[in-house]
Amino acid sequence: MRILVIGSGGREHALLAGLAKDSSVELTVAPGNAGMASLATVRDVDVKNPEDIVALAKEINAELVVIGPEIPLVAGAVDALVAAGIPAFGPTKQAAQLEGSKAFAKDVMAAAGVRTAQARRVTVEDEIDAALDAFGAPYVVKDDGLAGGKGVVVTHDREEAKAHAQAVIGAGNPVLMESFLDGPEVSLFCLVDGETVVPLLPAQDHKRAYDNDEGPNTGGMGAYCPLPWLPEGGVERIVDEVAKPVAAEMVKRGIPYSGLLYVGAAWGAEGPSVVEFNARFGDPETQPVLSLLETPLLEPLWAVACGRLRELPSLQWKPGYAATVVLAAQGYPAQPKTGGVITGEGLDDPTRVLHAGTGRDADGQLVATGGRVLNALGQGETLEAAVANAYEVIDAINLDGAHYRRDIARPAIDGRITLK
Ligand code: GLY
Repeated sequence: MRILVIGSGGREHALLAGLAKDSSVELTVAPGNAGMASLATVRDVDVKNPEDIVALAKEINAELVVIGPEIPLVAGAVDALVAAGIPAFGPTKQAAQLEGSKAFAKDVMAAAGVRTAQARRVTVEDEIDAALDAFGAPYVVKDDGLAGGKGVVVTHDREEAKAHAQAVIGAGNPVLMESFLDGPEVSLFCLVDGETVVPLLPAQDHKRAYDNDEGPNTGGMGAYCPLPWLPEGGVERIVDEVAKPVAAEMVKRGIPYSGLLYVGAAWGAEGPSVVEFNARFGDPETQPVLSLLETPLLEPLWAVACGRLRELPSLQWKPGYAATVVLAAQGYPAQPKTGGVITGEGLDDPTRVLHAGTGRDADGQLVATGGRVLNALGQGETLEAAVANAYEVIDAINLDGAHYRRDIARPAIDGRITLK
């Protein structure tokens, strides 16, 4: 089967590695990165332009298109592909509003009776102070649009919260002020096809740039799965209390969801409360989650794209744990320095290293082209062993000025994650 994967990050490298387990597939990726060339033909595409994606899919006679990032989904890539008769994995433009508009997601959750933070939408600067007062510290200030995981500020510093709200409004987007949800966070990826929901393994990512959750928010600096601290039945609760009611509400509204629904939830005293939805696989959680999936990835993606998820046999998982540690370029997230040469071991082995912001310079050397450069992967019988293996991989890679967190999964390993 000829498959086109859209995207260029560690998530898409993980999707390609999962799809490549099926020997019948012929993979193309666009725009891709330097690490993907061993698994797929790398092509160029304008991910913001659905017609460009359709043109490439037609040119290579793609039988399935898998959309990785949110931007093409929110732009309507799946609608354009389906209109052209090409099966696609991902939600339509309207359904992707669960990620594209936080206000829409709140409205769906209210109708579906799903627990989430209280929120107030603010569109003019004069309303910022009153909204900050309404919820108090810690302040949660979100850009009500797509911001690549960097639109959220959670802080005790009122001036910082206000400055972020002013910057978002100044850039032309509404702001969502929210009450703070206390409790450890879970990322649960759910395959959704209408009202059918199939969860993957629960994961947790580390969003802050530096150890001990210090520094600015990032797209994600590392992740691990499954979660040893999650109460028994935790996944089922998120499916029953969040994913299924939301899927049913979307069907009721005439905009059925098809694709991957990423439930970001905080586990509080009452159980899961939704922090956010994403309309796609998360990055970097996808990297460890898919590394434990034994079922060929094509099976679930094809079942969803064909509207036959309910017929899918149970997913098979490897036992144990997996972890990923993100290598970030100097200056990430504020001003990542690109162009640095990357050397070391494991760079051509997608079971150990998944590339994100990498390219080739004029001399063919591997260089950093983005803030999150690559992901080191590790697996093990215990979480501690999986994490140690991931650090062994990252310690064997060199990029001048690069940084990475040294405490991925550490609170879970040390038993420091407590539930109320
Ligand atoms: N890991 C956060 C995200 O994918 O948005």
